[in-house]
Amino acid sequence: MQPNNKYFIGIDLGTSCVKAVLFDGSGNALKTASYGYALMQPKNGWAEQNPDEWWKAAKNALAEVSDGIEYISGIGLTGQMHGLVMLDENNEVIRPAIIWCDQRTAAECGEITEMVGKERLIEITANPALTGFTASKIMWVKKHEPENYAKCRHILLPKDYIRFKLTGEFATDVSDASGMQLLDIKKRSWSGEVLKKLGINKALLPKVYESPEITGYVNIELCKDTPVIAGAGDNAAAAVGTGVVENGKAFVTIGTSGVVFAHTDKMVIDKKGRIHTFCCAVPGKWHVMGVTQAAGLSLKWFRDNFAESLSYKEIDDMVDSVPVGSDKLIYLPYLMGERTPWLDENARGVFFGLSAIHTRKHLLRAVMEGVTFSLLDCLSVIKENGVQPKGLIACGGGSESEVWRKMMADCFIIPISASNTADAPCLGAAILAMVGTGLYSTVEKACAAVIRQNGAVMPKENNYSEYYEIYRQLYPKLKDSFRELQHIWA
Ligand code: XUL
Repeated sequence: MQPNNKYFIGIDLGTSCVKAVLFDGSGNALKTASYGYALMQPKNGWAEQNPDEWWKAAKNALAEVSDGIEYISGIGLTGQMHGLVMLDENNEVIRPAIIWCDQRTAAECGEITEMVGKERLIEITANPALTGFTASKIMWVKKHEPENYAKCRHILLPKDYIRFKLTGEFATDVSDASGMQLLDIKKRSWSGEVLKKLGINKALLPKVYESPEITGYVNIELCKDTPVIAGAGDNAAAAVGTGVVENGKAFVTIGTSGVVFAHTDKMVIDKKGRIHTFCCAVPGKWHVMGVTQAAGLSLKWFRDNFAESLSYKEIDDMVDSVPVGSDKLIYLPYLMGERTPWLDENARGVFFGLSAIHTRKHLLRAVMEGVTFSLLDCLSVIKENGVQPKGLIACGGGSESEVWRKMMADCFIIPISASNTADAPCLGAAILAMVGTGLYSTVEKACAAVIRQNGAVMPKENNYSEYYEIYRQLYPKLKDSFRELQHIWA
């Protein structure tokens, strides 16, 4: 059958909504559906979501895009990484999922480091203990909610809960599993040593697959019998969806979080733990990535609270009218703690240099510049580790802004091209489904056939360096005050 007569669906379980996109086998997007759900923040720094709301939204999105199609050849799953979903013996959700940006587990990270040993932990999981990762969330439930932990029979990542509801299978893929901090990143399988030292029963964990492998078949009426492919975490899937599947290629994304992601054929580890090393969706390969916790989230937070009436296009126009440096105003985007380059769950957002001349448009520009500076931090650490991207492909909602893309090109001094799809993770997941069901023989060949890129924005003038220098100095000066603020008894 010709690629154009075959249909594939990519489902991306994001933080603010789930998206499903129907593609033909040449990667043309034919139909898109999206359904939102709530983010609960019961305490400062906590973040939870209800897995059954995810499922309801995913089912609606899947029904909408598959409507009228006789047979879907494959479904690929992707989504927010690291979240902890726990199921009891009846496969019911035990407690709300503790998601990736939740910062409650600093103490557990200290304990994990002690139990496994700092160097050994990095040797096996390629990362230091992180509040965002799943292992510390599991340890938190074990300690603070022993009754819930005792009931737990299955631990799943967010997208894998959708898989379970679709197929009845408990499965995950190597890229998403990497973010649990329980995987041996070199061997691409669960680490018996880490599990033993943390006292976590391996039977609780799903089976691990390479990203293009088939993990099961839909067993509900909707899309019955369609193969469901392992898929990938949102960033690893976006890499496939932008063709970042070989050395020298990299992308930057501004979604809720922001990421600079570079492919690497050989495993590279930052000894200081400032960037993550994970298995990527290309079997047998890896990637490094730096993360800004609150990228698009910063702009959304500002808009929702102080500029609700403005569209993102109006925001772009306003920001474009303000000079570089926002008239001497600098924003630190640490609304949800930070990962790269400062691993600190206590860090919080800052507007530095506020003056009575500043208006809403200055604050908006400062927010976009602050996020850009943070992404530059990510790129710099990646380069420092010997991975040298030749250019960056911009994807994610924030990158649709031309102003933001120009800002990144000038600030990073690197060409930035726009991805030709608005839904890189969905396309990536669908491409993995195309490979898994045999339409293409490898991920690289599928990307070569499917991905097209738009022209690059070339860097012009970097007028940002003096502001970036001050930005870089602020966190070290504020570090202790951030900690004191978070530890005020309330
Ligand atoms: C990656 C990460 C985020 C989430 C949310 O480590 O935490 O990118 O996957 O999108």
